[in-house]
Amino acid sequence: MLVLGLETSCDETAAALVDDDRRIRAETILSQLDEHRPYQGVVPEIAARAHIEHLDRLIAATMREAGIGFDQLDGIAATAGPGLIGGVIVGLMTGKAIAAVTGKPLLAINHLEGHALSARLIEDLPFPYLVLLVSGGHCQLLAVEGVGSYHRLGTTIDDAVGEAFDKVAKLLGLGYPGGPALEQAAKAGDARRFSLPRPMLGRPGADFSFSGLKTAVRHLVTQSGQLGDADRADIAASFQAAVADVLADRTRHAIALFRSRHPGANRLVVAGGVAANASLRARLAAVAGSEGFRLVAPPPRLCTDNGAMIAWAGVERLRLGLTDPLDVVPKARWPLDPAAPPAAFAGVKA
Ligand code: KG4
Ligand code: ZN
Repeated sequence: MLVLGLETSCDETAAALVDDDRRIRAETILSQLDEHRPYQGVVPEIAARAHIEHLDRLIAATMREAGIGFDQLDGIAATAGPGLIGGVIVGLMTGKAIAAVTGKPLLAINHLEGHALSARLIEDLPFPYLVLLVSGGHCQLLAVEGVGSYHRLGTTIDDAVGEAFDKVAKLLGLGYPGGPALEQAAKAGDARRFSLPRPMLGRPGADFSFSGLKTAVRHLVTQSGQLGDADRADIAASFQAAVADVLADRTRHAIALFRSRHPGANRLVVAGGVAANASLRARLAAVAGSEGFRLVAPPPRLCTDNGAMIAWAGVERLRLGLTDPLDVVPKARWPLDPAAPPAAFAGVKA
């Protein structure tokens, strides 16, 4: 079984061919970093236009690299949300066009499901497992109970963790994209120099909050005046340590919630762009170990947005016959667990 996957929900244009033996036959990713850098963030209209300009060429290159013709595909998977709607429309329409012309089934993929299932592309991981999904737009803890079957245990009541990394990196003038730059800067820093807040630490449940931490960094930067490289590194390290403490605490709480739902299951998966961060991965591995769990962390290139995870989610859905009609609509918002109540306090992000 061979599926073409298309990803266009944010600032990566990506195509990949994945089979049901977990082989990535070919993969092409084009990052729009240069287009967005002058604005220090993703500009939706620029992103959508860049997807239009590059997607056809990327698909052709991917097919050529694998030596595959469209008639050899078993299905076409495209991200159908959630994400920046202009980009989602480009990818989904392209997927629909290929499906219509070839007569092969369309798989409209939830981008978050792509992240949540990516660990099963790496190894034969049985359901259920606990996933910490940390990206630029999301920060959630979910029990993954099957394909299309998710139970949310916690979510952010304000910012996503990747968003906090990006904003703090911007405050520190570390460049764009912020997450990797901040991780790099933190390596040379002293995490104990500044005491930053750990929002939600010790609270019941597994929800997150990052806006107070971000604001604390803003005050610190404003008060500090001219920052030298050492100051920047120390603030970056202090911020990253605060995030690590919060993720560790919330994950520990989620493990307890997960255990009472699924006694005996003991796998923790980390997914999403922030999961590329080595020090956060190490911390989560320690949390998992101390709880009798094992951490499954896809390699960094499968944590940040990519086409292979969308193709793989397509393989998973196609195996179950979960195909979609050609009139399926793109969605800017699309929670994995629609039954989950709004997050405590505000519910800004689903
Ligand atoms: O999953 P992703 O590629 O796109 C979304 O679906 O949002 O995640 C992007 C986010 C950005 O906020 C980026 O700064 C963050 O992941 N990120 C990192 C690292 N690499 C990417 N954050 C911390 N450390 C990293 N090494
Ligand atoms: Zn993503």
